[in-house]
Amino acid sequence: MVARPPLKVLIEAMRLEDLDEVERIEEASFTTPWPPNAYRSELMTNRLASYLVARVDGRIVAYGGMWLMVDEAHITTFAVHPAWRRQRLGERLLLAFLDLARDRAAREVTLEVRLSNLGARRLYEKYGFRPVGLRPRYYSDNNEDALIMTTEPLDNPRLRARIERLRVALDDAPPPSGPFEPDEDPTIGDHVAPPAPPPSADR
Ligand SMILES: CC(C)(COP(=O)(O)OP(=O)(O)OC[C@H]1O[C@@H](n2cnc3c(N)ncnc32)[C@H](O)[C@@H]1OP(=O)(O)O)[C@@H](O)C(=O)NCCC(=O)NCCS
Repeated sequence: MVARPPLKVLIEAMRLEDLDEVERIEEASFTTPWPPNAYRSELMTNRLASYLVARVDGRIVAYGGMWLMVDEAHITTFAVHPAWRRQRLGERLLLAFLDLARDRAAREVTLEVRLSNLGARRLYEKYGFRPVGLRPRYYSDNNEDALIMTTEPLDNPRLRARIERLRVALDDAPPPSGPFEPDEDPTIGDHVAPPAPPPSADR
């Protein structure tokens, strides 16, 4: 029997031709998905925005977006396909955004997440985001509060050391082996607001 080669993860800029796949993940991930044209308009007109996709074997398994306003980076959207979760794809993508923010001379990275979205909160905490405030009744579907999470300054040595430790662990981690059938309702439904300044990352 011939062993299957390990699956490779590639992270690259989102393109217009990616939008059908992105939309499918969006709808499976958020209770209030961005309207279909939001990503198109972001890619075509928003020069402050960077959108990335993660591909495994050519198919999109995760995506996210970040706005850079002066020296503030703000993650506006972030999701992993339900069948590809818990395989460190969220981590790989978040690390790519932290690297991008640093390359673009951002001071720190911030985002909003639903208070109840514990999985996402743990992911962000793992990478050095800390709660810094609340936006009361931020999500209109259930009036849930948003937790604002921000990193320490990206050049802080303690944060740098943490990120580099996690990068090494990710490099040593096994590649994704999915897709798997999710065993629970995958919709968590937090996002940021649809693109209208200022953006936020959970809907
Ligand atoms: C949140 C989300 C992006 C995580 O992606 P993922 O690829 O499954 O996460 P990873 O496998 O990279 O997990 C990395 C870390 O995140 C945390 N984590 C992720 N999912 C978790 C869950 N369901 N429960 C608890 N912790 C979780 C863990 O700390 C994990 O590290 P560990 O395995 O060492 O404990 C994904 O669940 C998702 O797309 N959810 C729906 C959309 C969403 O909520 N987006 C965020 C909006 S702000």
